[in-house]
Amino acid sequence: MKLYLDTANIDQIREIADWGVLDGVTTNPSLMAKEKGDYKKILKEICDIVKGPVSGEVISLEKDGMIKEARDLSEISKHVVIKIPCTVNGLKATTVLAKQGIRVNMTLVFSPNQVLLAAKAGASFISPFLGRLDDIGNPGINLVYDGMDILNNYDFNSEMIFASVRHPEHVRQAALAGVHIATVPYKIYKQLIKHPLTDVGIERFLRDWQNR
Ligand code: G3P
Repeated sequence: MKLYLDTANIDQIREIADWGVLDGVTTNPSLMAKEKGDYKKILKEICDIVKGPVSGEVISLEKDGMIKEARDLSEISKHVVIKIPCTVNGLKATTVLAKQGIRVNMTLVFSPNQVLLAAKAGASFISPFLGRLDDIGNPGINLVYDGMDILNNYDFNSEMIFASVRHPEHVRQAALAGVHIATVPYKIYKQLIKHPLTDVGIERFLRDWQNR
C-alpha cells in the first residue's frame, strides 16, 4: 500500500518525507487555507520535496472552469494531480482531462456508484472519505470493500485512496482491504510508529547493556 500525507504544511511534509516511506501528498482547499503563501508556489514546493503524486484541488464548480484550473495547475509540475469533486460537472471535466493525459483524483466520494462513475470517467485516483462516513454512523469500510470489488471486477486502472483517515485503525483497515493508497494526516503518522512495548523494550535493552 502506498502512503500519502494529507496536508499542505511544508514542515510536516519534509519531516515525513525524511522517514523514507512517503509516496505522495494530498491537499484540499481547507488544508491549503491553513498555510501562508501562494497556492501554486506551495504546490510546487511540495512536488519538489516529494517527487510523487501531489493532489491540488480545483475551486470551480463548472466543467469549463475546472478544466481551466486543472490545466493551470498541471503546468506547475509533472507530479501534480488534479482533485475534482464527484459531481456531474466533475465527471464531464474528468472525461476531458483524462483523454488529455491529465491525472484526476476524484474526491468527495461517498458511494459505490460514485466509485463506478469516477472510474468510467477515467479518474486516475478515487478518494472515498471514510472518516466522514463513520462520523454519520455509516461504516466507511463497507464503501472501501465495495469500491475495490468494482474496480477489480472490471479491471479499471483507477487507484483507490483511503481518505479522511481519523486514527491508526483506519490505516490497518485500508491495508487489510488491499486499498492502493491511504492518505494519512501528520499526527497519525506519529501514532503509527509508536508502541509502548517498543519504548519499554529499548529502555530494558539499554539498561541491561549498561549493567553488564
Ligand atoms: O483527503 C481528504 C481529507 O483531507 C478529508 O479529511 O478529516 O477533513 O474529513 P477530513
